[in-house]
Amino acid sequence: MKKILPIILSFAMLLMLTACGNTDTGSDTVADDTSGAITQEIAGAEEVAENGETQEDMAAETSSDAGEADTQSAQDGAENGQTPGDTESTGTGGVLIAYFSKTGNTETIANMIASLTGGDLFKVETVVPYPDDYDETVDIAKEEQDNDARPELSTHVENMEQYDVIYLGYPNWWGTMPQAMFTFLEEYDFSGKTIIPFCTHGGSALGRSEGDIASLAPDAALLDGLAVRGSSVDSAQGTVEEWLDGLGLE
Ligand SMILES: Cc1cc2nc3c(=O)[nH]c(=O)nc-3n(C[C@H](O)[C@H](O)[C@H](O)COP(=O)(O)O)c2cc1C
Repeated sequence: MKKILPIILSFAMLLMLTACGNTDTGSDTVADDTSGAITQEIAGAEEVAENGETQEDMAAETSSDAGEADTQSAQDGAENGQTPGDTESTGTGGVLIAYFSKTGNTETIANMIASLTGGDLFKVETVVPYPDDYDETVDIAKEEQDNDARPELSTHVENMEQYDVIYLGYPNWWGTMPQAMFTFLEEYDFSGKTIIPFCTHGGSALGRSEGDIASLAPDAALLDGLAVRGSSVDSAQGTVEEWLDGLGLE
């Protein structure tokens, strides 16, 4: 028995050591689980990053979808009676300077724009001309605005489809464009074209005109307009050049 006792004790110690080893292994497992969790978190972060990119891609897709939707609505417009050519940007890159001018101020600016851009000039004129008398014109213009009139035009653009960029000029009359310009904007389809307003005025600058243009030509791109005081048109060459440069067009 004395000989067997050390063997039994050794065996018991061996068992205890084995048990301790299992505990360590257990803690290793926890450590592994933790690092696994971290790994999962990093993987999750990568997924978020990937999702971020995906979301950006989706945003890009969404905006291009929106572009397609615009094209689609333009096509819908074509189905609604407009000629297909008018619904897309089918112009040959032509530049038109279309303007109304009663006393010549806006015409001066229009001429500057034409010589600087090489665009074609077009004067909007009414069948019934406005009287020479200033006060009479003011009264008629007020009445026309109050009645939301559309004065009939005596001049028309023959090939509007060849123009992509339209500089639109007018004097400020009672806070916005003369009603003749409302007639003009309703006469053509400006879908896909770029409209750039310019006006002369006695102090009210562009007034409400840009908002009115946006309502009348909702499918056109509208760039920042230029306002020049009627009394300053003769010295406005530099201002016009600076404004044209700032538009970022060719
Ligand atoms: C009928 C009429 C209404 C006008 N209303 C305004 C106005 O509301 N605000 C303003 O600043 N100037 C107003 N003016 C001044 C003109 O905008 C300004 O004289 C302009 O330069 C005239 O341009 P034109 O020579 O091309 O016709 C008005 C002028 C007329 C004849």
